Amino acid sequence: MRKVCTRILLVAAVLATAFAMRLGGTSSAAAPASQVTFYRDVLPILQNNCQSCHRPGEVAPMSLLTYEQSRPYAKAIKEKVLARKMPPWFADPQYGHFANARTLSPQEINTLVTWVDGGALAGDKKDAPPAKEFVDGWNIGKPDVVLEMPQPFHVPAQGTIDYQWVVIPTGFTKDMWVEAAEIRPGNRAVVHHVLAFVRPKGSPWMKDAQPGVPFSMGPQGEARGPRPGGDGPEMGEQLKGYAPGIQPLILTNTARLIPAGSDIVLQLHYTTNGTPADDQSKMGLVFAKNPPAQRQITLMAPNPRFAIPPNDPDYEVTSVVELEDAVTLTSLVPHMHFRGKDFMFKVVYPSGESKTLLSVPHYDFNWQLEYDLAEPLVLPKGTRIECTAHYDNSANNPFNPDPNKLVRWGEQTWDEMMIGYFTVTIDRHASAAGLVKFLPGETKSSLTPRPSVTEPSSGVAPKSGTAGSGAAQ
Ligand code: HEC
Repeated sequence: MRKVCTRILLVAAVLATAFAMRLGGTSSAAAPASQVTFYRDVLPILQNNCQSCHRPGEVAPMSLLTYEQSRPYAKAIKEKVLARKMPPWFADPQYGHFANARTLSPQEINTLVTWVDGGALAGDKKDAPPAKEFVDGWNIGKPDVVLEMPQPFHVPAQGTIDYQWVVIPTGFTKDMWVEAAEIRPGNRAVVHHVLAFVRPKGSPWMKDAQPGVPFSMGPQGEARGPRPGGDGPEMGEQLKGYAPGIQPLILTNTARLIPAGSDIVLQLHYTTNGTPADDQSKMGLVFAKNPPAQRQITLMAPNPRFAIPPNDPDYEVTSVVELEDAVTLTSLVPHMHFRGKDFMFKVVYPSGESKTLLSVPHYDFNWQLEYDLAEPLVLPKGTRIECTAHYDNSANNPFNPDPNKLVRWGEQTWDEMMIGYFTVTIDRHASAAGLVKFLPGETKSSLTPRPSVTEPSSGVAPKSGTAGSGAAQ
């Protein structure tokens, strides 16, 4: 299919292309389609926006490194970029600016569409930009240290697998400041998510777990609320998570602390897929040369007390935390499961003024994205962070495993979660404990006019500020 491309009315061209596509490929005029070629025009866009995922060993199903690899997907590329499905990014552009936004400009979309419509030509190889360099599978460069599960975990063909916990002693004899961190799943086919926590020396958390040996707390282990173990000892601070779409941690002017003598505790969620498999996941760390002035930590605003009625298409859950000290906010991560529909973060300053920081109008559980604020936001003591989530427990939600079920908090994806994770920086010497006060959130069913099902789940309310969570990030 060939069609007109006007470089002035780019958006119009995109719309026109979509229209022409729907008409079954009729073209209104001949265009110098040879203008857009893979090597000169398309490859730079793929390098900057697609290859981080679309290359061997990464999360996407096919590579888009070369012409030969990309050509068979030309039609699919056009469809996905026009529908804004690729690259994956879910923030409503009305709110907030994000440093890691994955969005194509209208010009870039137009270039890709024109290339496809013009016959997906290769062009002259001499026009190609130099290949983008990727280091040995790692997106953080060469790690200073790699911490790997000492033995593989065997995932059977079928069944539900409780979260597995693996304690990995670091052997660090002094405080280490992490500037970059990346978790690489050993087998992406069965790894749903991995979270890495820092367990300080002497912590009683998971004291029964033997180093290196996968440990499970049983099916109820994490079902009790955001603090696994309920009333048990405080869990460690969350260092980094892996789930499809999560970018590696790469920090400047701040770092994350692993105190001397700490262990790293991995929380692994495996899902079965009909074929038995082994997994041996690992985490790479790059250290800061010097201790930073500011330390980064992840906090959360969860609400574990909800009960989503069967067939409710729009059940609302809110969570609220208040800051007990000033912090600088740097990023946001909404977290829900299959029934998650939309999610919004708002700050309410002590003055009463408020501001929406992030709105994700079409939440997609398959993508657990972190939204890095373009401008870090200083929040004074007493600021509240309020999250509002909606859930679709109706049959209209194609991901809903069972619309006839009452759904509460739980670790498995057919249970639900409601967590607004947020990352802040604080003075390096300040304590991370007790930074956040948890205020009661609310729930509202769309099915009944009266304020409905607020019956508490078996959840235990979290007490402390640092993110210890049984949740996927
Ligand atoms: C954050 C990782 C990531 C980025 C960045 C990304 N993709 Fe993808 N892409 C995926 C994954 C994972 C899938 C498979 C699951 C899906 O379709 O959602 C996929 C699927 C696709 C498909 C569908 C393949 C098929 O079999 O039909 C196309 C086409 C595609 N991507 C094109 C692109 C293009 C073009 C870009 C850049 C403009 C891009 N993607 C950026 C991860 C990514």
